[in-house]
Amino acid sequence: MRFWHVRADRGGVHFEGALADGMRACLHSRIAMRVLLERGRFPAKGEQALYDGVRALGWDEHSSPKHTLSVSATCRSSQLTHSQFIALKTKDAIVDSIRDLHGSRPDVDPRDPDVSVVVRLVKDEATVYLDLAGEALHKRGYRVATVDAVMKENLAAAVLRIGGWDATTDLIDPVCGAGTVAIEAAMIACRVAPGLRRRFGFERWPGFDAAQSTAWESLLEAANAAVLTECPVKILATDVSPAAVDATAQNLASAGVAGAVTVQRRDARSYREEDGPAWVVADPPYGGRLAAQPLQLAGFFRQWGEALRTMHGSTVLLISGNPLVQRNLGLTPEMEVELYNGDIECRLLRYRIA
Ligand SMILES: C[S@@+](CC[C@H](N)C(=O)[O-])C[C@H]1O[C@@H](n2cnc3c(N)ncnc32)[C@H](O)[C@@H]1O
Repeated sequence: MRFWHVRADRGGVHFEGALADGMRACLHSRIAMRVLLERGRFPAKGEQALYDGVRALGWDEHSSPKHTLSVSATCRSSQLTHSQFIALKTKDAIVDSIRDLHGSRPDVDPRDPDVSVVVRLVKDEATVYLDLAGEALHKRGYRVATVDAVMKENLAAAVLRIGGWDATTDLIDPVCGAGTVAIEAAMIACRVAPGLRRRFGFERWPGFDAAQSTAWESLLEAANAAVLTECPVKILATDVSPAAVDATAQNLASAGVAGAVTVQRRDARSYREEDGPAWVVADPPYGGRLAAQPLQLAGFFRQWGEALRTMHGSTVLLISGNPLVQRNLGLTPEMEVELYNGDIECRLLRYRIA
């Protein structure tokens, strides 16, 4: 995205830029969960230092009695150890400063706030951010139907990115669930910005004025103009469950990429040589009822592995949290990366079928 001073650490990726760059990150990042604007950083050994430091940042441009507020906090290796207390003190400092200026204070709305503030306290140093995204960025706004064990949209995009699919080869998800992988792939291939179909937190900020609104409109216009009318690759999404096929079709339509993906009811074990070569990208079943029956699960993966091995010239990319998958497919991964699907530790595995 051509940002300045990009730096990554365990907490995320940092960059410098104008507010419009933050808007651009919200609109175009397929993998980020949130985009945070740093308001300030200060030593906060104890509650008074935290309160004073937050007040000193000045909130007139960023909060008002007419705009609801929420504050969330995390802390590590600090004197203050309760994140809820840190959030409460931060909220007090903001609402007190607004009340002193305007005579009334903003209401707190933890569910759907206009302004969302994030505090991180690490080794007694507080960093205060405004959350540009509002609702987390994985919520693209297209998921209108769901099934069990769906993956987050940004995880599906990360699987495609880390796995190396470059949107120039055909793609199949043979266990498509609610269609997340196929939809993300279609959006990448058709150059649909992931944030085109949702609203963002910054649009509700008190300081979102005519100039910012114009900047945002032109970002949206450019993103809309970049969308391809025809998908350059074939994408196929199949699942044995009629409910999953139906959910995928609904979500594809809602994402505006129904024309880019073929959806069929089909058993994953029925794939054969003539279905390839393609990238087979899948988040196979490994939990629920099947997990309670390891023999059945092992049998499924043995048969699926046999089917995949007939697809000469294909690449298979799987994310799985169950070692039974790897043990029974009968394939040797050429790439293995540790990833988390929510709390579940998973492996991203890539296989080449000769
Ligand atoms: C973990 S879910 C996939 C979720 C999907 N990645 C998403 O985010 O929407 C696994 C899917 O495998 C499907 N499945 C189970 N056995 C199957 C089989 N034999 N053939 C095809 N699909 C199967 C289930 O119906 C379920 O939808």
